[in-house]
Amino acid sequence: MGKLEAKNIEKFFQHDGKPLKALGGVNLTVNDGEFVCIVGPSGCGKSTFLRILAGLEKPDGGEIMLDGKKLDDTGPERIMVFQEGALFPWLTVRNNVEYGLKISGIPEKERNEISNRYLDMMQLTQFANSYTYQLSTGMKQRVAIARALVMDPDVLLMDEPFAALDSQTRDLLLVEMQLIWQKTQKTIIFVTHNVPEAAVLGSRVAVFSARPSIVKKIIDVDYKRPRVAEDENLGAYEKEILSSLRHQGPK
Ligand SMILES: Nc1ncnc2c1ncn2[C@@H]1O[C@H](COP(=O)(O)OP(=O)(O)OP(=O)(O)O)[C@@H](O)[C@H]1O
Ligand SMILES: [Mg+2]
Repeated sequence: MGKLEAKNIEKFFQHDGKPLKALGGVNLTVNDGEFVCIVGPSGCGKSTFLRILAGLEKPDGGEIMLDGKKLDDTGPERIMVFQEGALFPWLTVRNNVEYGLKISGIPEKERNEISNRYLDMMQLTQFANSYTYQLSTGMKQRVAIARALVMDPDVLLMDEPFAALDSQTRDLLLVEMQLIWQKTQKTIIFVTHNVPEAAVLGSRVAVFSARPSIVKKIIDVDYKRPRVAEDENLGAYEKEILSSLRHQGPK
């Protein structure tokens, strides 16, 4: 039994008055403590799939199992980091990061201690009292990541969280993410367009086909950690992911 199991997930949307099949029967089993990356063409349904795993959207077919139980709602054990890190503009950086802790009734002193750790990790300490409109896109994304991490969820669902970052910050966070994962044994499902990023982060990489998408290949990246993007030994894995992505058609 996997931690999180997607069984034949289908999803339709209305497009120009006709149904558009986004997900064509996605099967994916993610084991407890695994780091799985998802790659696939733009518009194939990766964000939709992640929203379904988070319980934010209902599938039209198939089912999601969490710890062996059918899942049809959101829950505190699954936290999503969105593609455009949706933050609260009326709150400071610190209050954004602490938002979930406050809702959970964690006292202020403890909240501060936890948020300080993640603000430091995301190099945001200096901006703790800024409002989010005063931040760059990459900084906002780091706030969104910190806000998810403070909640210490079992399952972290991440939708291209590094896409807006400069390469130095991204390289730093690629290593940081692996260290957090190794330390906390979280189950992480991470969507990315970036093939080297998938090879660095993923223990397995699931390649989605074009719409209606299915998982057309799973590539095991069996390599020592922490990995760095410039490690040439990852090249063979990257090639395998790329060739699977380029291979047209749903199969
Ligand atoms: N709420 C919606 N209403 C109608 N169509 C939608 C909706 N959400 C997604 N879609 C359609 O479903 C398909 C998949 O969208 P989704 O955002 O999941 O793709 P994606 O793989 O995350 O793309 P990208 O890599 O560009 O982020 C697209 O064709 C999109 O237009
Ligand atoms: Mg997306």
